[in-house]
Amino acid sequence: MAVHVNRVVLIGTGLVGSSYAFAMLNQGVSEELVLIDLNKEKSEGDVMDLNHGLAFAPSSTRIWFGDYEDCKDADIVVLCAGANQKPGETRLDLVDKNLKIFKNIVKNVMDNEFNGIFIVATNPVDILSYAVWKYSGLPQSQVIGSGTILDTARFRYLLAEHFDVDTRNVHAYIIGEHGDTELPVWSHADIGGMPILDTVTDQEVLDHLFVSVRDAAYQIIERKGATYYGIAMGLVRLTKAIIHNENSILTVSCFLNGEYGEKDVYIGVPAIVNSKGIKKVLELKLNEKETKQLKHSVSVLKETMYPFFK
Ligand code: 2OP
Repeated sequence: MAVHVNRVVLIGTGLVGSSYAFAMLNQGVSEELVLIDLNKEKSEGDVMDLNHGLAFAPSSTRIWFGDYEDCKDADIVVLCAGANQKPGETRLDLVDKNLKIFKNIVKNVMDNEFNGIFIVATNPVDILSYAVWKYSGLPQSQVIGSGTILDTARFRYLLAEHFDVDTRNVHAYIIGEHGDTELPVWSHADIGGMPILDTVTDQEVLDHLFVSVRDAAYQIIERKGATYYGIAMGLVRLTKAIIHNENSILTVSCFLNGEYGEKDVYIGVPAIVNSKGIKKVLELKLNEKETKQLKHSVSVLKETMYPFFK
């Protein structure tokens, strides 16, 4: 019987990509990890550096600098290539530049008969996920964006700090665009089964917590030029859910086909993720305010991206 060796191909080894590779190795997630980047020298250096950590890793991973042919047998291709935000830029400002880069990359991957799961991390992530779905011709279930996985993690962290409990006991989601129009789903936020809205009634406190989440990336970019550790760990979490066929619920960017009354858009919502990709989009029962906010987020994404797909 042929043994399946799981392979992840990472395209783009900038700050996010190389942090992802480091986190993958530290958590022993895949048997093979292939790095692809235009900057061959830098990536070869990364491969050497990462390989020197193997002796300290929880399990063995074969890591090499590869090319697009390695995508043929890959289970997952992770896309971290492209430009990132400069101080003062929004994620949506990157759309033109990164769509061009992605068209080329996705063609190269698909020319090698890739039929696994794409994970998209580059911004604007919802629009680029839609683009990868369009450019690749793969089923929507096989294209997943990191969406609001990181925003949700930031939210849970800040709530955990506020209430002085373990982050892992906080259940609360940020949904919508991974960007300025995202929204907190307060109506379903709870800690250990206790709704947060039962304890906190001061709207100012709630608003302050949310704004800290929404603007977190700007705060970090102002201080150190980029964000990478948090998103890298979020991407590893998503990779694990796929490789281990976990049926985990994660807030990722997925295609809406009538859910939340929306169609033909990729946006961050909770979904069940397993080895086939998106198994099911979960439709939270939103209150009136949340419904309005999500609608607005969808319309901003559509207005920004549709001109590119005419
Ligand atoms: C982040 O939220 C910039 O999208 C990146 O950290």
